[in-house]
Amino acid sequence: MQASLGIGMLGLGTVGSAVAARLIGEWEMLGARAGVTPVLRRVAVRDLTRTRDVDLRNVELTSDAQALVDDPAVDIVVEVMGGVEPARSLISRALQRGKTVVTANKAVIAESGPALAGLAASHGAGLWFEAAVGGGLPIVALLRASLGADVVRGVDSIVNATTNIMLTRMREEGVRFETAVAEAQRRGFAEADPSSDVDGWDAAYKLVIMSWLAFGVHVEPEAVDRRGIRDVRLHDLAYTGQLGYSVKLVAHAERAVRSGAVHLRVRPTAVPADHPLYAVDDSDNAVIISSDLADTVILSGLGGGGASTASAVVSDVVQAARTRGCPPAAPLTAEPVLLSDEDVEVAGYLRLIVDPSGEAQAAAVQMLEDRGVPVTAAFDKPPLDGPFPQLLLLTGAAPRAVHDRALETLDTLPVVREIACAMDRIESAA
Ligand SMILES: NC(=O)c1ccc[n+]([C@@H]2O[C@H](COP(=O)([O-])OP(=O)(O)OC[C@H]3O[C@@H](n4cnc5c(N)ncnc54)[C@H](OP(=O)(O)O)[C@@H]3O)[C@@H](O)[C@H]2O)c1
Repeated sequence: MQASLGIGMLGLGTVGSAVAARLIGEWEMLGARAGVTPVLRRVAVRDLTRTRDVDLRNVELTSDAQALVDDPAVDIVVEVMGGVEPARSLISRALQRGKTVVTANKAVIAESGPALAGLAASHGAGLWFEAAVGGGLPIVALLRASLGADVVRGVDSIVNATTNIMLTRMREEGVRFETAVAEAQRRGFAEADPSSDVDGWDAAYKLVIMSWLAFGVHVEPEAVDRRGIRDVRLHDLAYTGQLGYSVKLVAHAERAVRSGAVHLRVRPTAVPADHPLYAVDDSDNAVIISSDLADTVILSGLGGGGASTASAVVSDVVQAARTRGCPPAAPLTAEPVLLSDEDVEVAGYLRLIVDPSGEAQAAAVQMLEDRGVPVTAAFDKPPLDGPFPQLLLLTGAAPRAVHDRALETLDTLPVVREIACAMDRIESAA
């Protein structure tokens, strides 16, 4: 009979239930692939009285997560409980005992990945976290292994399903922000408190993890230039749509070739129709990696949900079982040097509320170009709510700091009554 490996799981929610179903339902297939049979032995939850929709015969349900971690019959701890604490302490405890840990927890890995990977290395343990970025999309494996010979230059991605669903609904059906959040919650993507998604934290965590693996530096999540989608207006989704763009919450990272300095940002961004992220709608995710040898590699598909995330978790379990005794080395982790706003180039979309004198377009364009911001297109638009007309401007690539200083001056122009929207834009390749 084939040897077995004991699995203890922390959490039995959306992801945990799907993981349990696969471990229990396909034990034979997984065992054949791993060379040892992974057996789900114990599961820790908060509420023992809740009815579970997975058949846990022969699996002990407990509310004592620490005892599960300490159980000598548990070789692999699967952490799918979420939150930072007690998840981080339980992961540390398991690693200190030399156990393999598989986690889907992006907040913990983004904040403490290097420390936990170091802990794992010093105890001969394995730390696996494919599910922490992009659900079933194998982004971690791509960056850790497949592109092991490449110098990665940049990452452009859509990695948050909630905001992508919301922006798609708002753009296509003109529904309001609140209605769009409610739909994402109803479909099981947004949590009761959706702020981690809509304020860009969730995407920032994933970007920090991707950048850690891609560039070998660990940027604190707080250091990500982060804006969520709360200020995105339906008018701007419509106007950018008319101009051939689709607004996405884009998570972007880049590394300067010479200095090695990095820049990470998560911002609503107008994406042109000829860009691979343009058509990534609804709950889909996509990650574009630019590197020197492989050039452009794109992964796209379902980026979350129980089944897709279980795919990543259970594949980590299989990999960990197959390579037991030889865990993956800790990723390189250097102190990051951050690119300054004088060195990060961005293009933009602006919507201004202006005086009806007919002189606003010429004055605004002149002022921006005098301050180093090229204007590639300008469109007069009629008033929306009040008496004042609008002016849409597409600005070309210029350093972020130059853009910001020019906007401050633009705000003081007598013909400009309000800067109603200033959003990043990816320039069309055409
Ligand atoms: N959902 C997704 O699409 C998705 C995608 C990628 C990654 N992830 C990550 O996967 C993890 C789990 O997400 P989820 O959506 O499955 O969460 P969830 O549905 O809220 O489930 C959380 C589970 O953890 C248990 N739990 C929470 N605190 C506990 C504690 N202190 N002790 C014991 N058990 C505890 C809960 O027990 P009760 O059932 O008793 O309440 C529940 O079973 C998170 O890190 C999340 O970021 C989720």
